[in-house]
Amino acid sequence: MTKNLLSMLLFVSIIFSSCTPEPIELNIENRFGQLPATALTPIQNPYSPEKAQLGKLLFWDPILSGNQDIACVTCHHPSHGYAEQLEFSLGVGGVGLSDSRRNGTVVKRNSQTILNTAFNGLKAEGNYTPELAPMFWDNRNTSLEEQAIEPILSAEEMRGHQISKTAIMDTILARLQSIPTYVTYFEAVFGENGITAENLGRAIAAFERTLIANQSRFDQYAAGNPNALSSLELRGMMNFIETGCANCHGGPMFSDFELHVLTVPENGKLPLIDDGDGTFAFRTPTLRNLDVTAPYMHNGVFSTLEEVLEFYDDAVDESQNPNIPSERRDEKLRQLELNDDELSSIVAFLRSLNDNDFDAEIVKEVPSGLNPGGNIDL
Ligand code: HEC
Ligand code: HEC
Repeated sequence: MTKNLLSMLLFVSIIFSSCTPEPIELNIENRFGQLPATALTPIQNPYSPEKAQLGKLLFWDPILSGNQDIACVTCHHPSHGYAEQLEFSLGVGGVGLSDSRRNGTVVKRNSQTILNTAFNGLKAEGNYTPELAPMFWDNRNTSLEEQAIEPILSAEEMRGHQISKTAIMDTILARLQSIPTYVTYFEAVFGENGITAENLGRAIAAFERTLIANQSRFDQYAAGNPNALSSLELRGMMNFIETGCANCHGGPMFSDFELHVLTVPENGKLPLIDDGDGTFAFRTPTLRNLDVTAPYMHNGVFSTLEEVLEFYDDAVDESQNPNIPSERRDEKLRQLELNDDELSSIVAFLRSLNDNDFDAEIVKEVPSGLNPGGNIDL
């Protein structure tokens, strides 16, 4: 409490004294920094509006799935912040959208948002390489281009069991080849014989790089508007730094993009223990747009931010997952210093990282003539 009061007083005095505004500005710049206005692109995949538009159609078109009933957007829908409010995804055979989705093959992880994935890998120093951008909760894939192929090959997410993993891509490319609109679009963007797996990934990635949400109230504050955050939120920001959250959730994305062992409890509704390849280590997720990324963690085991913070409070002392010995907890996790007052102000701060101003266009028609998004009952 004393510490809180002190930091608040310190903060308020810095804000209001006209001669010394600099130290706190510097502090924020160093720990977080602003998101750039646009994302870097790989040398092999320069941006063009036509390419992004083609990528958008592909993102919505269930033609990319084995049974032609599930698209990327099924689990990453703009009405749900390009994520879904499900603990873990329901893929092949599923019906419905987000928390009203039912049946469907269990995908063992919580769907990440595509918003700002254009900046995956961006660290506090401001440099990143889009070709090497880490993807997924366990960083097992790099770049949006490569990632876009994975769900198509996955039996649980889009492929199903009717078509083998080795045959699915050829099947999909042949389907695209048989649709004149796609032939025209691919040729316009990639030249003759443009319908290849690589170009499919490139077009989808180009679209994903347009899904940027960088105007949260925090961003407005970081850009120099001191009134963009309330005093509670500002106190939360200081506490977020001081308690040690920012040691992992630093940089403009509020993530170091590294893997850490937190000992998140298993989600009992999942048939298998998800041990992230035996390591139980998962990537620090962005804390931007937490409104749309609930439920939280790789397995969606927590439904509210308060639950997440209670978890941290307990995990500082001991492992919260019986499969992981306490000694394996990440050093930075053990160093967290939390108290109740700090927790509620931190939650307030985290809510200032939401930005609902992104491209949320609902695509009404896709070149295959199939239902955009597949069986989502819209
Ligand atoms: C059945 C639901 C489902 C479908 C369909 C789906 N995804 Fe995902 N997506 C997920 C889940 C779940 C994760 C997290 C998986 C993991 O970490 O192992 C994910 C992760 C991602 C990520 C990584 C984000 C990050 O920050 O690392 C990207 C990018 C992505 N999906 C794009 C796509 C694209 C493009 C398609 C279509 C080709 C697609 N998804 C289809 C559920 C789905
Ligand atoms: C040791 C590094 C580390 C520290 C310190 C840390 N986090 Fe995390 N955070 C992570 C990782 C890793 C995950 C994902 C864990 C998983 O899914 O199993 C995560 C997940 C989260 C999530 C869920 C986000 C989502 O979309 O699912 C929130 C919210 C969060 N952390 C907030 C905080 C707060 C607040 C603090 C300080 C009290 C904090 N974190 C401290 C690494 C860290």
